[in-house]
Amino acid sequence: MLNDKSILLGVSGGIAAYKSAELVRLLVKAGASVRVVMTANAAQFVTPLTFQTLSGNPVGTDLFSLEAESRIGHIHQARLADLVILAPATANLIAKMAAGIADDYLTTILLATTAPVLVCPAMNSKMWEHPATQRNINTLAEMGHAICEPASGPLACREEGAGRLADLGDIMEWAFKILSPPTLAGKNVLVSAGPTWERFDPVRFLSNPSTGKMGYALARVAAWRRANVRLVSGPTPLEAPFGVERISVSTAAEMRERIAALAPAMDAIVMAAAVSDYRPAETARQKLKKSLDRQTLLLEPTQDILAELGKNKTDSQVLVGFAAETEKLLENAKDKLIRKNLDLIVANDLTKEGSGFGTDTNEVIILDRNGTISDLPPSSKEEVAAQVWDRVERIFACVK
Ligand code: CTP
Repeated sequence: MLNDKSILLGVSGGIAAYKSAELVRLLVKAGASVRVVMTANAAQFVTPLTFQTLSGNPVGTDLFSLEAESRIGHIHQARLADLVILAPATANLIAKMAAGIADDYLTTILLATTAPVLVCPAMNSKMWEHPATQRNINTLAEMGHAICEPASGPLACREEGAGRLADLGDIMEWAFKILSPPTLAGKNVLVSAGPTWERFDPVRFLSNPSTGKMGYALARVAAWRRANVRLVSGPTPLEAPFGVERISVSTAAEMRERIAALAPAMDAIVMAAAVSDYRPAETARQKLKKSLDRQTLLLEPTQDILAELGKNKTDSQVLVGFAAETEKLLENAKDKLIRKNLDLIVANDLTKEGSGFGTDTNEVIILDRNGTISDLPPSSKEEVAAQVWDRVERIFACVK
């Protein structure tokens, strides 16, 4: 998701510098080109060679290095970056930035860059809480820098409190968000995800293998693009994505009730949940005993949430459904698009490897009402989500 993005990682001298090595790996894995610039103190904790090996790029340490300046000057470094991440940002670095001091390679670049800056502080909790540090961090926030607040927990100095470098996953989420276009800003969107559980006794239920990954990816990417996201989720062990309001439900009936209440205020709704089509007609009060050779379970249909949304949809609301099929993919998907009054349908061939339930990738075909069919290559679920939102945004632009 960070393909073609250039990230400058500034590392200052704190014990958390060792975690920055892993951050470089994650950024590179996401497709970014990473250049590391270290303060002299940072080089006491981790060698430049570590960062050079992980990033595949030379590491900047010395403002007055003739050799480094001839390869790529510090002003050029500052211009190259799409995003500057400071991790760890020590109290000293934060103070210098707040005061506009430029007395080494990193602080000089920080004054010269016009790229967004993400500050990830890490220090002793008393240093973090000190009024000077708090004043300085507020100054950086006022300048428009993003602050990824430190986490609480045991610190390297054997004290407890706020000051640990934020979780690397959170730093990555910030990076994705800052580097995503704010194309859904001001839009209210609802995504449903995961399976439903339809109980037939207190300890058993009917369900399906959905893990919710596709719906969670849709919610995550919409949040990166600054939408106000509601995620109505069936049972799954996944963590709620950063900046997303999750509403947890269990049954199809609960999911329908929560979605119906929110729907009128939504600009777009994407139904990625694998909603059970049937539920047991009765739920036994006690656990069913295996006393018979055969058991018959009487099922009744659940309400089709998407079809109901399609009936009540306004002209300006965009409605997206999924079609998970094992045969006649296009035929069935087209039928659902029309029958449920959708703007888009994302069709999934469940028989394909790396597609559908539980996988991290997906191979889908997106159909719209004009008959346009986009056959996407196998991609991560986030990439598929980005393709879906791109199309939703185009529809928003047309109905404006
Ligand atoms: N859906 C829904 N409510 C249901 C069943 C499905 O809102 N009770 C939604 C799903 O979230 C999905 C779309 O309808 O976006 C299509 O779901 P799918 O299971 O593929 O199709 P069905 O309409 O249930 O038809 P069938 O099971 O016959 O393929």
